[in-house]
Amino acid sequence: MNLSIVGSGYVGTTVAACFADLGHDVVNIDIDESVVETINAGDAPIHEEGLAELIAAHAGPEGTGRLRATTDYDAVLDTDVTFLCLPTPQNDDGSIDLSVMEAGASQLGATLANKLDWHTVVVKSTVVPGSTADTITPILERESGKTAGEDFGIGMNPEFLREGTAVHDFLNPDKVVLGADDDRALADMRDVFEALIAAAAAPVVETDTRTAEMIKYANNAFLAAKISLINDIGNICKALGVDAYEVADAIGLDDRIGAQFLQSGVGWGGSCFPKDVRAIISAAQAAGYDPAMLNAAVEVNDRQPARLVAMLADHLDAHRDGGVDGAIVAVLGLAFKPGTDDMRNSRAIPVIKDLQARGATIIAYDPVAADNAPNYVDDVTYADSAAAALDGADAAVVVTDWDEFAALDEEFDAMATPIVVDGRRIIERRDGITYEGLTW
Ligand code: UDX
Repeated sequence: MNLSIVGSGYVGTTVAACFADLGHDVVNIDIDESVVETINAGDAPIHEEGLAELIAAHAGPEGTGRLRATTDYDAVLDTDVTFLCLPTPQNDDGSIDLSVMEAGASQLGATLANKLDWHTVVVKSTVVPGSTADTITPILERESGKTAGEDFGIGMNPEFLREGTAVHDFLNPDKVVLGADDDRALADMRDVFEALIAAAAAPVVETDTRTAEMIKYANNAFLAAKISLINDIGNICKALGVDAYEVADAIGLDDRIGAQFLQSGVGWGGSCFPKDVRAIISAAQAAGYDPAMLNAAVEVNDRQPARLVAMLADHLDAHRDGGVDGAIVAVLGLAFKPGTDDMRNSRAIPVIKDLQARGATIIAYDPVAADNAPNYVDDVTYADSAAAALDGADAAVVVTDWDEFAALDEEFDAMATPIVVDGRRIIERRDGITYEGLTW
């Protein structure tokens, strides 16, 4: 099929490249000319495992020609289905900010005014229930002068891929959710996903757009709450002298609980969980319901960085005059999780700010996120290696579970005082260092 993907963020670019790989002809539309040029040169605009190879295989001089990028919305006219993959950030009060989606829908609608035959528009961005039907559809109708369900179709197809494993996750989904408000839109979506569903043997959930939107929030809210619950239990374990990881391994054997997302520590960050949990809380409150569990999930998540810093402060108080004040603290890891340079809502941000407020000097190391870090934290010295960050430091705190930190050993001997407080259970406990785990 001929597909247009609006938006070249990590979802849009991944989806465009993967659909091209599955045999569709794909055009990726974005307002950012440099991103468009990068894709057309056969390169990836973001770092995602396997993405550069897919883009090189289908765009650029050596490619199959099944993928191209443009800034021109008219490219939509040569396609059958458009996926909207635009950002949905949060307002200051936590509610969803649909302005980028509305602008995109407006431009798309104006373009569809010139489309002679049927077209299906699929919202892939995470939007609160009702947004596709009540906000996006009326804009498309107004700008195109056409009627949804008669002249064009409306679908909603939430995306569950994770950053860092985006290509793998897109091509190997646990489920494909097809939300549609009319039969022809549903038929188009089935056609688009036929090859993927067959290759991945993924179960398909067919529903309306409003339910599809809620499935995405429920999915993310459940996972975020699961981590907050194991963090709550982990904090209890710590207080009672129990290793939360031993407990998690055991409860994960119960199929009803499951082994994944039971790693307790400094909490969840990233571009999705924090924003999406707040957006669905806000939507629920606007509808008259205050969700107690999700409020608590946010509260537990907000507490973990402060608990990590408090533990570090206790050790420094015991080992040096002034405690944290005036201490050099090595922060290991800045990204919100390993495998990405993304620092959005990383737990490193509150940890560093708290330490600085207590008078610490921060020297940080991350294998890939250091270039992004100055957008989120000030007055930090960046080291080229974990060893360099640790050299001469009064204490170290681990915020991201990069694999390479597991191999650290004699590097701790170069610290002024070998105090290590681990927020991710990645460092080996050993003689000669004062080691403290957040929940173990
Ligand atoms: C998440 C969802 O997993 C994905 O389905 C959705 O499409 C987007 O949001 P992502 O933000 O890429 O994906 O990261 P994920 O791997 O889910 O991790 C989120 C956060 O939870 C990270 O900060 C991670 O460190 C933390 N986490 C994860 C834990 O603290 N413990 C765990 O056991 C798992």
